[in-house]
Amino acid sequence: MERMEDDKPKQKKVTCYLLYCVSTAVIGSLQFGYNTGVINAPEQKLRRFFQNVSLERFNEPFSPGATTMVWSFAVAIFSVGGMLGSFSVGAIVNKFGRRKSMLLANILALLGGALMGLSSLSRSFEMVIIGRLIIGMFCGLCTGLTPMYVGEIAPTALRGAFGTLHQLGVVIGILVAQIFGLESLLGSDTLWPILLALTALPAILQSIMLPFCPESPRYLLIVLKQEDEARKALVRLRGCEDVSEDIDEMKEEGMRMAMEKKVTILELFRSQNYRQPIIIAIVLQLSQQFSGINAVFYYSTGIFATAGVTQPIYATIGAGVVNTVFTVVSLFLVEKAGRRTLHLIGLGGMAISALLMTISLSLVKSTPSLSYLAIVAVFAFVASFEMGPGPIPWFIVAELFAQGPRPAAMAVSGFSNWTANFLVGLGFPKLEELCGPYVFIIFMVLLIAFFIFTFLRVPETKGRTFDDIAQGFAASAAKSPSSPAPEAAVVDQPGSKEPPPMSP
Ligand code: GLC
Repeated sequence: MERMEDDKPKQKKVTCYLLYCVSTAVIGSLQFGYNTGVINAPEQKLRRFFQNVSLERFNEPFSPGATTMVWSFAVAIFSVGGMLGSFSVGAIVNKFGRRKSMLLANILALLGGALMGLSSLSRSFEMVIIGRLIIGMFCGLCTGLTPMYVGEIAPTALRGAFGTLHQLGVVIGILVAQIFGLESLLGSDTLWPILLALTALPAILQSIMLPFCPESPRYLLIVLKQEDEARKALVRLRGCEDVSEDIDEMKEEGMRMAMEKKVTILELFRSQNYRQPIIIAIVLQLSQQFSGINAVFYYSTGIFATAGVTQPIYATIGAGVVNTVFTVVSLFLVEKAGRRTLHLIGLGGMAISALLMTISLSLVKSTPSLSYLAIVAVFAFVASFEMGPGPIPWFIVAELFAQGPRPAAMAVSGFSNWTANFLVGLGFPKLEELCGPYVFIIFMVLLIAFFIFTFLRVPETKGRTFDDIAQGFAASAAKSPSSPAPEAAVVDQPGSKEPPPMSP
């Protein structure tokens, strides 16, 4: 057990047990990253498998068009599963609680992994497709469950840093998938089923570790009204007997919640108190996906090849490394610089990098040395993403809402993220065909729009309790029900008893 430096030491105490619980939860993030990245490298092998199966069954291989269709289906259905999974998060956590939901989700990982792993033996491409759908549902659940559990057990002063661990899990998962997918490792004609089935191992590991983690104390106290259980869990997580500060804060939030009706998804949009935070949550999630990050992660090898890079696969792995390094940078900055500032820096950096990518891609034919600029621009794009737009949208949603509306809000915002992810994955190849090297201009324009929105509308949540943040929105809704005042977004006021107005 160690103490981090702070003038509020109790708030920042990090125990080994807390780290154990957070590490257990972020295995879910690792799974999301792994399954996002795993499908790229073995593309040609899977296409060949589809053709062979067709040959065995119908005595003729699929046409190239049919192979591409089956392939695109196998890729895209993952996001459809993600949309279904993320949308179910609210209902599932309300019924089973946070910990049991994570445990149950692993059944999907085992099932999906088994289907994909046995597809080649069973000579069935349908099993790859159904497996990807089920794994997508599992990952959709993970993108809600992990940030929610981590946000609820983390001490207030470290909620951002712990929240960023979700994204760190994601990027490490992507990197591991890129490396394992190399032809010399598991990305070969015979081993790709193992590459896809490997997701079952972390699921087993998490299922073994979860029973030693407590249910979220906020859920125990506020939803189940089990104060003793909540206190016990907090004592272990915080490593000290006196957890009255946490308990009092939760009780206050619980009391306020008891005065409200149960929050359904529809209520989120109807109620004045929730409308503003849900719009912010959705737009932040859209800013993450419509930044174009997955155009890079899904298609980077092609982008590097267009830019004349001779070994594009290594540039892709390079992007994965930059991705990981900058998530760690963000982890250390997020409690100092704040969420709003880092998100703005990230969006701005991405817009500039998108411009540089466009310049280099459009001129590389006449000036081959510009392929270096293309690599630098893609790396800068990815680095800027991880400063803010990567980690922040995933955990800020848990911060913008109190215990009552949180599950519904996580479901709606997660669903928005996955839908946008699906659209970019599906639409980018067509857009690239239409716009050629200018395709990243579209993302640049969107990035500028998201920058302006964040500047005008997104409040700082650093160091503030959930209740304080929720009250801030309520106060601003009461003050100006239909149109929020136009000044700059609120500055953070850690620990302030009087909640500042949340609207800009
Ligand atoms: C975020 C996104 C995910 C993306 C990843 C890249 O977690 O949600 O879609 O692939 O970052 O690091």
